Amino acid sequence: MSSSLPPGPRLPNLLQTARLIATPLGFLDECAERYGDCFTLRVLGLNSPPVVFFSDPEAVQAIFTTLADQFDYGKVTQVFRPLVGHESLIMQQGDRHRRQRKMLMPALHGEQLNGYGSVIQAITQDITAPWAVGQTLSIRERMADISLEVILRVVFGIDPGPRCDALRQRLAKLLEAITAPLYSVQFFLPPLQQNLGPSSPWGGFLQQRAEIDGLIFEEIRNRRAQSSAHQPSATADPTSNPSTEPKDVLGLLMTMTDGEGQPLSDQELRDQLMTLLLLGHETTAGGLTWAFYWLSTHPQALAQLQQELCDAPADLDPMALAQLPYLSAVCQESLRLNPIALISQPRKLKQPLDLAGYHFEPGAVLIPCIYTSHRRAATYGDPLQFRPERFLEQKFSAAEYFPFGGGSRNCIGMALSLYEMKLILAQIVSRYSLSLAAKGTVRPQRRGITFVPGDNFRLRIEQDRACGLNKIALAD
Ligand code: HEM
Repeated sequence: MSSSLPPGPRLPNLLQTARLIATPLGFLDECAERYGDCFTLRVLGLNSPPVVFFSDPEAVQAIFTTLADQFDYGKVTQVFRPLVGHESLIMQQGDRHRRQRKMLMPALHGEQLNGYGSVIQAITQDITAPWAVGQTLSIRERMADISLEVILRVVFGIDPGPRCDALRQRLAKLLEAITAPLYSVQFFLPPLQQNLGPSSPWGGFLQQRAEIDGLIFEEIRNRRAQSSAHQPSATADPTSNPSTEPKDVLGLLMTMTDGEGQPLSDQELRDQLMTLLLLGHETTAGGLTWAFYWLSTHPQALAQLQQELCDAPADLDPMALAQLPYLSAVCQESLRLNPIALISQPRKLKQPLDLAGYHFEPGAVLIPCIYTSHRRAATYGDPLQFRPERFLEQKFSAAEYFPFGGGSRNCIGMALSLYEMKLILAQIVSRYSLSLAAKGTVRPQRRGITFVPGDNFRLRIEQDRACGLNKIALAD
């Protein structure tokens, strides 16, 4: 067992921190190339503790499972507190975190997804209907439109109408603002969080947040009023009225009770909705944008996907559609090459630990690195090639392939986002032929918490294909 830390660059701490902020992908590539599966950076400012990045599946697996109790989590999510609130899942630790996950899980998995499929398809249909042959599109923006609408309808459960329009407009404005570096810096530096009136940056944010909260609370009040009006009588069989079954995440959460049998308060509901919005919107849109990027640069893969969709039975329901093997492999391979989050949540050691042949002292920060793991030559042959087939030929473990993180804090929206990505992708590529219209090389670009194709990534609509629309039957 070596008493020294894994190797790493000798640059001063502040320079390492600056490199990780300015050119994270290049810096991580360089370190993985030079130091291999495990390297130490000092990227948390002047007095940075050792921050150790892992891509060796054995070590990653241990961090996610057997070693889980030896870490503290949570500090990095503090920057989101002003947006998501104190009650948010991502602000919780230990038992409270476990209880909240248990409560949220059913709304984002299994049977519930079934009901979301036709809504996702209808939204995609509405947003893509005006697309015309010859038109050039910013796919990232269009995917963001679709994914925001999915959150509004499937997560918030808001029916189209004036409240939905008002919320969409305010949320889109806020979500755009927080991706701008100058605006978002105030979330990282609490001394900048001064309310100097609505025209000051922080005052403006507080005002936007209050307007959004007002609309969400109004929706919750309305839903509570509706559900008490439809409350079945004590003698009636509650399962006999299917219209009372919640069809969205908010509706389901409103039926839940916490450990003491108490329903969630309006504030708790609001905080969870904002959490799902913040973590579920740009991420899914980014994942989709990369899938379109890879398909547009690999016509063979696009043709194979279109063929699979054409060959599928005409009456395929959304759940079965999402099981199509090549469609699934395309999404997996896109998320491998361009994981939307570069790392799983950093874990701070509470006690000394021996791992991967090294000894770590309390205070060291350990990071399962999604980005370097997904480009590891020992796991993936030709790691930089877009080759969806690799997911049909081989099964990768949860420590080799983990675009949604791992362990007790892995992504709770994984099933929903994969489902959404597949349905949207299938519907668009079976309807349209698209070609790359970007000028120059498309490079990954930071957008809030995600990395997406640069703004020059555009697609041109070449052909309105007859095949898809009939195939991807839109349920009413
Ligand atoms: C392609 C889409 C997405 C990707 C790549 C993604 C990725 C991730 C990653 C890497 C984490 C951190 C896991 C860890 O630290 O190990 C995470 C956490 C989380 N994600 Fe996602 N996500 C996506 C979509 C969504 C969606 C659609 C939702 C909700 C509607 C969502 C909700 C969350 C939440 C609430 C957490 C925090 C879980 C916790 O702290 O217990 N994500 N996601």
